[in-house]
Amino acid sequence: MAAPAHPFLKWAGGKGQILEPLIARAPRQSGGYVEPFLGGGAMFFGLTADPALAPAGAVLNDMNADLVTVYQVVRDDVERLIARLEALAAPYLAASEADRAALYYTERDREPADRVDLAARFIFLNKTCFNGLYRVNRRGEFNVPHGKYRNPRILDEPTLRNAARALHGVQITCGDFEEPMRAAREGDFVYLDPPFEPLTKTSSFTGYTSGAFDREQQVRLKWAVDDLTARGVRVMLSNSHQDFIVGLYRADRGPFDGSRYRIDSTPARRAINSRGDRRGAVDELIVMNYPAGEERRSLDSTSASDDRPGPRTK
Ligand SMILES: C[S@@+](CC[C@H](N)C(=O)[O-])C[C@H]1O[C@@H](n2cnc3c(N)ncnc32)[C@H](O)[C@@H]1O
Repeated sequence: MAAPAHPFLKWAGGKGQILEPLIARAPRQSGGYVEPFLGGGAMFFGLTADPALAPAGAVLNDMNADLVTVYQVVRDDVERLIARLEALAAPYLAASEADRAALYYTERDREPADRVDLAARFIFLNKTCFNGLYRVNRRGEFNVPHGKYRNPRILDEPTLRNAARALHGVQITCGDFEEPMRAAREGDFVYLDPPFEPLTKTSSFTGYTSGAFDREQQVRLKWAVDDLTARGVRVMLSNSHQDFIVGLYRADRGPFDGSRYRIDSTPARRAINSRGDRRGAVDELIVMNYPAGEERRSLDSTSASDDRPGPRTK
């Protein structure tokens, strides 16, 4: 069997930390997979690594055009990408701290020559910038400062090659979440991980693209989830555990304790908060439209995920 694939980028809100409880709740199914808010793609790679869940086909989407180009280049041109990254990594890793900063800012200010170059620059900046953040100014220019890591893994060949294998034959699109959701068919699984509803007024990190993901967007997303549910598509959505989001998915009557959606949660650690002292354990909300009996963990009651402290079902 091929080596399992993993995310190759650091991504704000990345689900690597809580992948196990999410995968345990994924539906056992044989249809296709759709991920409209791809980011670092932890769920997609997690599913492809699980023989019981590996999807028959997949559509991956994000609104961040450069991020989407990176995935397409990993899928289509991974060896040229590796060569280009090697050319960026070697001088950076051999340089003094001051020279590294100069190399970083030179690369940050540079216009990429082609798609492979764009992808290599994106990965280089992702691994060497402050906290792996992605932030652009009003003109769409990446503006995160240098990160000063001692030994950043700029080029991780096995991870890139495994990701390329997992992405083979996968459709990767750039646009708003509604488009790939419309394409989902009965029996498919759609995982939604939108920019989260801020936990406090100050922790409003939603800056993946220049447009913010506000409450109006969260409501628009809920309507799109309603549409998928009516069409027999299995949906899982994760978000921060906020009253507004819980209320949104609790509002309609249906089969799960009188509600249309099943609402669960799992402890998570938020790495991105504008106040460092507020980093720590918070709950991640998990909303599903299929019964517990269809979850992956119901396949094997002795799986590692069932040894965890029980999730709180609301
Ligand atoms: C919380 S992150 C997803 C993280 C991902 N699950 C992971 O494990 O890394 C949300 C993503 O949604 C994307 N996004 C923001 N607004 C969007 C929209 N309207 N449609 C599609 N994608 C959007 C952002 O670019 C960002 O990559």
